[in-house]
Amino acid sequence: MKQTVVITGADGQLGRELVLTASSAVECVALNRRALDITDPVAIGDLLQQIQPQLLINTAAYTAVDKAESEPELAMAVNAHGPGHLAAACAAGGVRMIHVSTDFVFDGEATQPYHPDAPTAPVSEYGWGKLAGEQAVRSALPDALIVRTSWVYSRFGANFVKTMLRLMSERDELGVVSDQLGTPTWARGLAKALWAAVERPQLQGIYHWSDKGVCSWYDFAQAIFEEGRAVGLLDGEVKIKPIPGSSYPTPAHRPAYSVLDKTSSWRDFEIQGVAWREQLRAMLLDMKDKETDNE
Ligand SMILES: NC(=O)c1ccc[n+]([C@@H]2O[C@H](COP(=O)([O-])OP(=O)(O)OC[C@H]3O[C@@H](n4cnc5c(N)ncnc54)[C@H](OP(=O)(O)O)[C@@H]3O)[C@@H](O)[C@H]2O)c1
Repeated sequence: MKQTVVITGADGQLGRELVLTASSAVECVALNRRALDITDPVAIGDLLQQIQPQLLINTAAYTAVDKAESEPELAMAVNAHGPGHLAAACAAGGVRMIHVSTDFVFDGEATQPYHPDAPTAPVSEYGWGKLAGEQAVRSALPDALIVRTSWVYSRFGANFVKTMLRLMSERDELGVVSDQLGTPTWARGLAKALWAAVERPQLQGIYHWSDKGVCSWYDFAQAIFEEGRAVGLLDGEVKIKPIPGSSYPTPAHRPAYSVLDKTSSWRDFEIQGVAWREQLRAMLLDMKDKETDNE
């Protein structure tokens, strides 16, 4: 019998890639915000009762990191209380839950990749909300699986890769921050890792997933330019200049270093990570292929 899997936040980058990569062994019920607002516990209870899923993957989130500084209550409602309501409903209905969290639960002071049990210390409202979400999920459903990720992009929605492609086609020169280090994550690779985790029902607790390697936003932008030209999404020249984060002030403070240690995920999900630049090339090729129906 097929496993019924509810995906919340289904119109987001990860939600869309999860639906695209689902195997025929699962029946996906993709719920966007209109179909299910995760801040509404009554609607959650009613829908789970109706759908009777075996698993729920929560990708719904308030992801506007800078805006969260001026809307902390809304960010907290979606990123903390919402996951708590979902976990409580899953606990009541005997539903397994996978919840997605972020590298922004860390302060960025480390110099080595963050292990899943490294101490957390968010430096932004978004980070505090996501950490509170992890805690709410664990308290309502101790055997939930929580997967933290970083720097997510895909051909869907708004993200750094799409912003860079646009700016690179409009400008002759761009300054990009070179003193914040992390790892990009193609949402499709993350979706595949989550599906591997779905097949291993014993998995619980906190895991990390991003692509492999380390780069700065400047390195990432440079690679977007080179790979974008190689696949035919860009032409012309752009001068990309490294700049310090201090010369690009944003409302939210961001961790200077947020590389995640994925060793336990590679071992327990039994799936290998792929180098971030290889994933970037694959995403740009996918975007080029789908240019006609791209949103
Ligand atoms: N994007 C990143 O760089 C990044 C980095 C680290 C971790 N993460 C985490 O990865 C997960 C997936 O992120 P993503 O990049 O796929 O985010 P995304 O593209 O912003 O998608 C999030 C989705 O959640 C929906 N949503 C917002 N409020 C909701 C609510 N109250 N009820 C139901 N749905 C709601 C949004 O709908 P609307 O569009 O209608 O608002 C959107 O479709 C999230 O947990 C995020 O925190 C993301």
